[in-house]
Amino acid sequence: MTDIAVLQDRIISLKKKRNAVILAHNYQRDEVQDIADFTGDSLELSRQAAGVDCDVIVFCGVNFMAESASILSPDKTVLLPELEANCPMADMIRVRGERKVWKNFPGYTEQPAFVFPHDFTLRDIKEKYPDAAVVTYVNTTADIKAESDICCTSSNVIKVIESIPQEEIICIPDKNLSMWAARNTGKKIIAWDGFCHVHDRITVKDVEKARADHPDAVLMAHPECRLEVCEAADHVTSTSGMLRFARGSDAKEFIVGTEVGLMYRLGKENPGKMFHPLRKDMICPNMKKTRLESVVNALENMVNVIKVPEDIRVPAKEALDKMLAIV
Ligand code: 13P
Ligand code: SF4
Repeated sequence: MTDIAVLQDRIISLKKKRNAVILAHNYQRDEVQDIADFTGDSLELSRQAAGVDCDVIVFCGVNFMAESASILSPDKTVLLPELEANCPMADMIRVRGERKVWKNFPGYTEQPAFVFPHDFTLRDIKEKYPDAAVVTYVNTTADIKAESDICCTSSNVIKVIESIPQEEIICIPDKNLSMWAARNTGKKIIAWDGFCHVHDRITVKDVEKARADHPDAVLMAHPECRLEVCEAADHVTSTSGMLRFARGSDAKEFIVGTEVGLMYRLGKENPGKMFHPLRKDMICPNMKKTRLESVVNALENMVNVIKVPEDIRVPAKEALDKMLAIV
């Protein structure tokens, strides 16, 4: 047996012992996806976390995802195999107080005027727009969710915003997702200066180069990419949206504008179709921190428990529940 197979076997028996379910994001390492009970995008994983029948959820992803699982399923023990697996975008915005400066963050670009600068906290924005609804991307910490009216993911942001009666919407923290929502809903979107460093680094030049290299391919982009990149794509959707699109499409070749971890499922589920990364360096280091060894350690020792305090969990759950109620 290979080292990988030994670790995978160990995980299967630990899962039984702990009555555990393993949830993995589409960006996880191939061998981690292989031991997961369910692999999906942020929305699918939230639905799984809310409804799954088990004692322990092992969340192979980044910390905001494990936090959401704990918010939705407080009676279960939620383990994050690598505590250092965080999402830099989720850590950018603050409710109040301490202000972060992102100007020197790799990939930073100046944005149009409707985007609030990075040194504004959520409370600052709410004070300026007291009548606006607050829509929060799930890539945020639990205390930001607790201050929100409703959450969204990349797959339902447009539906969520259209479900809200207010015309004025504070949409945080990803400026690119917000601009995509503004373009597709016609609502007044008040955005903030956050971004995903994996997607925001992609430029229209990269799109042009990929199209020149693969002239017959259909180009899919994630809405965390810049608006001009999304506008230059053939299809804009979440990671699982890309899986559905590729499955249903007659095209034989695709350019994939998201983190390269998705290539594994795309290839496995679509034999005979070809997938090229939009750029080979679209790698999220945090998503790659979780290894089989980390999963074994978490399950064997029941460590790295993620628990959200009740005063934050209850309002955060309301915002997540409202999102999950939208089909
Ligand atoms: P989705 O899988 O929901 O599209 O999310 C992408 C992402 O960046 C998660 O961190
Ligand atoms: Fe965060 Fe981007 Fe990594 Fe997703 S891919 S976890 S948004 S840094």
